[in-house]
Amino acid sequence: MENHTKDSTMNVSSLNCIDLSDDDLHNSVVSLKQACLDCGFFYVINHGINEEFMDDVFEQSKKFFALPLEEKMKVLRNEKHRGYTPVLDELLDPENQVNGDHKEGYYIGIEVPKDDPHWDKPFYGPNPWPDADVLPGWRETMEKYHQEALRISKAIARLLALALDLDVDYFDRTEMLGKPIATMRLLRYQGVSDPSNGIYACGAHCDFGMMTLLATDSVTGLQICKDKKATPQKWEYVPPIKGAFIVNLGDMLERWSNGFFKSTLHRVLGNGQERYSIPFFVEPNHDCLVECLPTCKSESNLPKYPPIKCSTYLTQRYKETHAELSIYHQ
Ligand code: OGA
Ligand code: NI
Repeated sequence: MENHTKDSTMNVSSLNCIDLSDDDLHNSVVSLKQACLDCGFFYVINHGINEEFMDDVFEQSKKFFALPLEEKMKVLRNEKHRGYTPVLDELLDPENQVNGDHKEGYYIGIEVPKDDPHWDKPFYGPNPWPDADVLPGWRETMEKYHQEALRISKAIARLLALALDLDVDYFDRTEMLGKPIATMRLLRYQGVSDPSNGIYACGAHCDFGMMTLLATDSVTGLQICKDKKATPQKWEYVPPIKGAFIVNLGDMLERWSNGFFKSTLHRVLGNGQERYSIPFFVEPNHDCLVECLPTCKSESNLPKYPPIKCSTYLTQRYKETHAELSIYHQ
């Protein structure tokens, strides 16, 4: 097992901050592009979600996790990756972790009712919801947040398109973010991480998809490693900023952009305080063929990755990182 004790000192990262209300589009695109080339992590502010609503979402998330385990198991994650994920359900870094992540989660995807022609696709379908008598207003709050986070993701995708020299609405089309896979995940971390013994709140990983909008409470824990190949690895904390999202690019966008934009390794260390966060994972349409973007290849820079369908890629990544559902039904 790798020895991480030395590298967990308090290094703090400074990330670019993208202001979505900035009228100077050129300035935003330059700053975003620099962040995407450097480490694929940046803050987003002035996104239009007010703080009271954000506080409400976190309050509701807390209420869910405070339920007895038996109640939470009633909405256990299903085969469409929706619902409750118990502690240790996910294992992101098998090389360095002895067990899974010390976190619980709740996945919420795009609600696709059973009479929709696309409902049977692996990442569409109805969400399980906790009983409205137990958590009144919960579903409404989460659905509203999902909508808002998707709106912000699309605004960021427009800047990303410009940073990639594509038309501003390149990612807006139906086969991309017009009908996306977008999954939010409520998370609660507990306990103290002990890297030298392979215990992590969340193991080192890169996100799978296009980008992730992360909302966190004020408890520090997220770390990034800008150079995965350096030895020893250097980990820097990304401090939470009230009202800001931490946004990062995922492997699918790295692949799509032919390695031009970066997805960066990150992890979470627990310090004993309870920590709540809500990542919102953004992926294009199920059937979107993720193949080298037209502006990211040339005769001297040929595509490095074969094209792959979005849902095929995601299914594979989920399978590699999540426990078999059958373990819960013995
Ligand atoms: C993730 C993740 C970070 C956090 O869920 O992919 O990196 O702070 N989460 O919860
Ligand atoms: Ni992540």
